[in-house]
Amino acid sequence: MRRLDSVEDGHRRARRRLPNSVYWFIEGGTEEELTLRENRRAFQEVTFRPRAATAYTNHDLTTTVLGTQLSMPVIVSPAGYIRLAHRGGELAAARAAASAGTAIGVSTLSSYPIAEIAAAGARATWYQLYFAGGRPGAQIAIDAARKAGCTALILTVDLAGTAGRDRRRRANAPIRVDLRSALTYAPEMVLRPRWLAGFLRDGLGLNVPNVRLTHDGPPLSVAEASASMRRHPPTWDDVSWIRERWDGPIIIKGVLSGDDARRAVDTGAAAVVVSNHGGNALDGTPATLRVLPEVVAAVGNDAEVLLDSGVRRGADVVKALALGASAVLVGRAYIWGLAAGGEEGARQVLEILRHGISTTLSLLGCPSLADLDDTYLRRPTGQGGER
Ligand SMILES: Cc1cc2nc3c(=O)[nH]c(=O)nc-3n(C[C@H](O)[C@H](O)[C@H](O)COP(=O)(O)O)c2cc1C
Repeated sequence: MRRLDSVEDGHRRARRRLPNSVYWFIEGGTEEELTLRENRRAFQEVTFRPRAATAYTNHDLTTTVLGTQLSMPVIVSPAGYIRLAHRGGELAAARAAASAGTAIGVSTLSSYPIAEIAAAGARATWYQLYFAGGRPGAQIAIDAARKAGCTALILTVDLAGTAGRDRRRRANAPIRVDLRSALTYAPEMVLRPRWLAGFLRDGLGLNVPNVRLTHDGPPLSVAEASASMRRHPPTWDDVSWIRERWDGPIIIKGVLSGDDARRAVDTGAAAVVVSNHGGNALDGTPATLRVLPEVVAAVGNDAEVLLDSGVRRGADVVKALALGASAVLVGRAYIWGLAAGGEEGARQVLEILRHGISTTLSLLGCPSLADLDDTYLRRPTGQGGER
């Protein structure tokens, strides 16, 4: 593939490669997309306060998250149905994470068995748990994650309902393959022959092999799995239930207040992800970057704080780290890379982010990741730390 110049270049190529519905499935947010836009606005409004006449180059970006050393503070976020973006799906994403030396979160709604994804060799594989199949389904998934060698569970806690989508196309992504959807989507798909060829070669389908009700029973269908997880949004009781079944770290993804972060830690979480699901859950929630300082203050040294939603460049990662995150997760950025060029596209996106972090640290006059703090930033009035 031709080299990607930037994450945005990957985005443009994804737009050209993917059928409209698939593109909007990845791109769109819920309702008016207030939160989706706000995520980006927050990164734009927090600006840098560089130190001039410095010469710090060759930064060491290695970072330890939950005891695992990563080559940089960027982690691949769990995302369901990404086999629609590229038939390599989570396998390609995990291989990209492996070559970039980082960790991957793998969605319950992934299209390859967790054992195969974990074998791709990412620095760490974390299984993201939805309660598809209720507690029996969750128990089977936890057992499979353990057997596959996953080192942490991510419990996503911000989808206790199904928000509407103003963009009709986004609501109707082709996740079900039947005659009716074939007829509905045929016109846009023939305009994307390269994608269509991949989809056809892949057997025309999406499945969720990690969602089962019994150990040796067949997996649920996509429709059954998504209906079931909507019926069983996890609660704090479920965190305690998981705690009894999983010795490793639990990461609670989707907290947006100091109170919830504290509760997560008190219930046994080793890390929280400040996340609004990339603008895909409750519309009207604040940008994660704005909430981050409150969460960091509430958690103190009792757990690690990660952030996602809206990260598109290395400078964004640096801003989140300066406000106290130990690493960020990226969603759309790598999915666009995947759509643009499979494993190689996703790998290039991760390398672009790495390069962006290094360059930003040099231009900022910051000696190392460990030295980053909010004295390197200027925040808008009302977000604390005004300078
Ligand atoms: C297409 C898509 C599918 C997603 N599926 C899941 C999922 O199955 N589980 C989950 O916890 N988060 C899911 N997410 C949310 C991501 O893990 C992450 O929180 C979000 O993408 C971060 O925002 P960003 O896309 O702006 O980087 C999904 C996001 C997208 C874009």
